[in-house]
Amino acid sequence: MADMADMGDQRMVDGGAQDSERAAEAALRPKRLEDFIGQEVVRGQLSVVLRSARARGVTADHVLLSGPPGLGKTTLAMIIAAEVEGSLRLTSGPAIQHAGDLAAILSSLEEGDVLFIDEIHRLARTAEEMLYLAMEDYRVDIVVGKGPGATSIPLSLPPFTVVGATTRAGLLPAPLRDRFGFTGHLDFYGPGELTRILRRSAGLLGVDLEGEAASELARRSRGTPRIANRLLRRVQDWAEVHGSPGRLDLEAARGALEVFEVDPLGLDRLDRQVLHALCTRFGGGPVGLTTLAVSVGEEPETVETVAEPYLVREGLMVRTPRGRAATVAAYEHLGLQAPAEGVLFT
Ligand SMILES: Nc1ncnc2c1ncn2[C@@H]1O[C@H](COP(=O)(O)OP(=O)(O)O)[C@@H](O)[C@H]1O
Ligand SMILES: [Mg+2]
Repeated sequence: MADMADMGDQRMVDGGAQDSERAAEAALRPKRLEDFIGQEVVRGQLSVVLRSARARGVTADHVLLSGPPGLGKTTLAMIIAAEVEGSLRLTSGPAIQHAGDLAAILSSLEEGDVLFIDEIHRLARTAEEMLYLAMEDYRVDIVVGKGPGATSIPLSLPPFTVVGATTRAGLLPAPLRDRFGFTGHLDFYGPGELTRILRRSAGLLGVDLEGEAASELARRSRGTPRIANRLLRRVQDWAEVHGSPGRLDLEAARGALEVFEVDPLGLDRLDRQVLHALCTRFGGGPVGLTTLAVSVGEEPETVETVAEPYLVREGLMVRTPRGRAATVAAYEHLGLQAPAEGVLFT
């Protein structure tokens, strides 16, 4: 299965375009906390945690960041490293297959390093246990040899900071969750924040983004900065081929949104497929997550972490004890007739 961290990227671009999309994304990442737009609560809390550590001259506490893809988890991890002036070491849950992989990383850490573990809920169990110890006692037991003759050699580590990112905080075992001194939950951005993000990105790209165009894109970015920035580049493409390079006005924004089939709520193909299946194949539900995911040919985890949060937030889908259900608004959005009877949520 593909790395969840990359899911967001894979849905809108093909393999060949991916590298350039990534590079473009990296160029737009805010580098300091003060440039990070929105998420006031998390930003304020992080700022206190980091400043206090600096004032006391100690390594910052471990930080867990959770939230749907594209909202700024990786960006914040990089910002934390920059703010504490530590080197950033990057890895991810799926990349660590064995405890030994983690031991190798841990034993190479230097004082004040920031170890970013993306998709931390997918760490192997043995690695997880090693991580508890490393986070709590700055210690790792290196096992030498195999079978009854194996011995473990304790190795002490310099103080460092773990930044974990996850799309599913609920999946993290409690002992691991408890090792984090601070957990920040990132939520979808409002149109005002996305407008500011788009303006900032347009400035960095050196394009002239008109106010109405910015608002239109902000409304249709699915509450997600990654998507907003990507749409901005598509509008840039549209303006380029329509003879007004660098001038991104409402016409260009609407033109691009139409060509790239972004719907009025900003839903993407997976969102629409899920909703459509829910409304037409399962009579609006409730239906189990796995059944729903299979019907659209996706992993349950992808449906749950990528599509569902926004559909729920927009009031198109509800989670019930018996499964997922569509609301009347979902039928209206898809232009479908809602069933006259049955369980229907408004
Ligand atoms: N608060 C923000 N302000 C400005 N840009 C942001 C913000 N959050 C995310 N971005 C942009 O969105 C893109 C995706 O963010 P990223 O940190 O990779 O998300 P995640 O790791 O949560 O999937 C980045 O390129 C970054 O430029
Ligand atoms: Mg990320």
